[in-house]
Amino acid sequence: MAKVIGPGSLIVDVTGFAPHLPVAGETVKGTTVRFGPGGKGSNQMTAAHRAGCTAMIISRRGKDVLGKVLEDHYTSEGMSEQYVIVDENDESGSALIEIDERDAQNRIIVVLGANERVDRVSVLTAEKDFADCDAVLTQFETTYEAVLTAKELAAKYNKPFILNPAPYLDVPVSLFSGIDYVTPNETEAEQFTGIAVNSIEDCRLAAQKFFEMGVKNVIITLGARGVFYSNGKEEITIPALKVNAVETTGAGDAFNGGLATAIAEGLPMDIALKFATCTAAISVTRYGSGPSMPYRHEILDLLYEKFGVLL
Ligand code: ATP
Ligand code: RIB
Repeated sequence: MAKVIGPGSLIVDVTGFAPHLPVAGETVKGTTVRFGPGGKGSNQMTAAHRAGCTAMIISRRGKDVLGKVLEDHYTSEGMSEQYVIVDENDESGSALIEIDERDAQNRIIVVLGANERVDRVSVLTAEKDFADCDAVLTQFETTYEAVLTAKELAAKYNKPFILNPAPYLDVPVSLFSGIDYVTPNETEAEQFTGIAVNSIEDCRLAAQKFFEMGVKNVIITLGARGVFYSNGKEEITIPALKVNAVETTGAGDAFNGGLATAIAEGLPMDIALKFATCTAAISVTRYGSGPSMPYRHEILDLLYEKFGVLL
C-alpha cells in the first residue's frame, strides 16, 4: 500500500444550508445545519486513505468537544493519529461554512486554533515515515514552518512533494522553488501569480509564473470546469464530470487526496488527473467534507465508466 504523509489541518466544520446567503445585517432562515470532521489537511488525508493509501497527518488539536469529533473520525476510519499532538490547553480548529442551496457554493470562516502551533519539531518527529513514504502532501491550513520542513524532508528523501496552496498565505516566493506539484484553484492561482484565471490561456500564463518560481508541475483546478495541467512541455485538460452536486466543500481536498494517491502509486499524469477528477466528482454528490470522500472501488468504477481506464 502506498504511503502519503504531511502536515495538515484538523478542523470541525459547522455547515449551514440556506435558500440564499444573508447579506450584512440580514438573518436568513436556513434549512439544516450539519456538524462533522473537516479541515483541508484532514480531508485530503481522508481522501487518500479511502482511495487506498496509508495516510499520515501531522497535526495538532485540543482535548475538547471538537477534538472528540476528530478523534472519533480517525478511529472509525482506521487512520493513524500517531503524529497528532493532543494538548488540553489548545482549542481544536473550527470552521463556519455557509452553503447556498441554489448552486451548492460555499463561504467559509476558518479558525485554525491548535493548527497554528504545528512546529518544525512536530514534522521532524515523523522523519522516518517521510523516508519510506511515496508522496508528501500538504496545504496552507497549517504553519509555514511545517510546510517548509515537510518540503525539506521530501527533498532529503527524494519523494514527490505536492503543495495545495490553500488558503492563500503570504509566503516567500522561494518556498515554491523545487516544488514537484502545486495545485491552486483559480483564486489561489491569481493570488500567487497576479494572473486572473478565466480561460485556458490564463492558466498557461499563471503556470508560466509558477515555473519562473521553480515549480515543476502546475495543476490548476477550475471547479465545475475541470482541471488544467502543465509541466511546460506537456499540457493536459480534463473536464469535470457532470454530476448532481449537493455540496462542493472539500472538492479540492478530494481532488488533492486522489491526486496524491495516484502520484504515490506511480500512475502517469493523465491517469492521475482522471483519478483525482473522479475522486472529486463523487465527493460533491455527498454532504460533508471529510465524510464525503469516496472509497477506492467507487473511484475505480467511475474511472472505468467515464474514461475507460481499468486499474
Ligand atoms: P474547495 O475549496 O471547495 O474544496 P477548490 O476550489 O479547491 O474546492 P475546485 O477547483 O472547486 O477546488 O474543484 C476541484 C475539482 O473538483 C475540480 O477540478 C473538479 O474536477 C471537481 N469539481 C468541483 N466542482 C465540481 C462540480 N460541481 N461537479 C463535478 N466536479 C466538480
Ligand atoms: O476545503 C474545505 C475545508 O476548508 C473545510 O472542511 C473547512 O474545514 C475549511 O477549512
